[in-house]
Amino acid sequence: MDAITLLVKDHQTVEALFEKFEQTGPRAMKARKTLADRIVHELSVHAAIEEQVLYPAIRESLPEVEDDVLEALEEHHVAKWVLSEIDSMSPEHERFQAKVTVLIENVRHHVEEEEEELFPKVRKALSADQLEEIGEALAGAKKLAPSRPHPKAPDTPPGNIAAGAGAALLDKARDAGRRAKAQAQKKKAAKAPAKKAPAKKASGRSKSSR
Ligand SMILES: [Fe+2]
Ligand SMILES: [Fe+2]
Repeated sequence: MDAITLLVKDHQTVEALFEKFEQTGPRAMKARKTLADRIVHELSVHAAIEEQVLYPAIRESLPEVEDDVLEALEEHHVAKWVLSEIDSMSPEHERFQAKVTVLIENVRHHVEEEEEELFPKVRKALSADQLEEIGEALAGAKKLAPSRPHPKAPDTPPGNIAAGAGAALLDKARDAGRRAKAQAQKKKAAKAPAKKAPAKKASGRSKSSR
């Protein structure tokens, strides 16, 4: 797949998650947290592969986009800080909704600049073969990219390549831990009412809860 098509597809995936998040009601805490987790994951991977593959490739072959890329890196940096805060925040925290709203505003601005300014310059300057080659590298990087935000880690090569591989391993372990915990909670929740229901019926009259 060509690099720009792959990245625009990522942008659309994230935009769909943003819209779903915006449609949740104020009491849909669980849905908000689930969507926020997916946003954190998608954006962490997307930012990492742009920083590891696309930005260095175009800085090398297109010096006229240097300023655009430097600005993009700063926008990623800010987004990753906010993502790292959202990642560890309870959806019940009074700042949670505002934080996600600001993240969405920032990312929409960044995506607009990429799609309307940066990507057209890249498409114009590079050949179809070059774009295809970068696309393949992006797809490969996706499999090894960190799935959590690391705002303090290097974001340019070679530092981000080395740090990214280590961070990705730790993230995968953390993701697996979270999934196991969620599954255990689900199982516990599924079992709990089944046990309680008959007990309530049997002793409904004689026992009060307080
Ligand atoms: Fe970007
Ligand atoms: Fe992007």
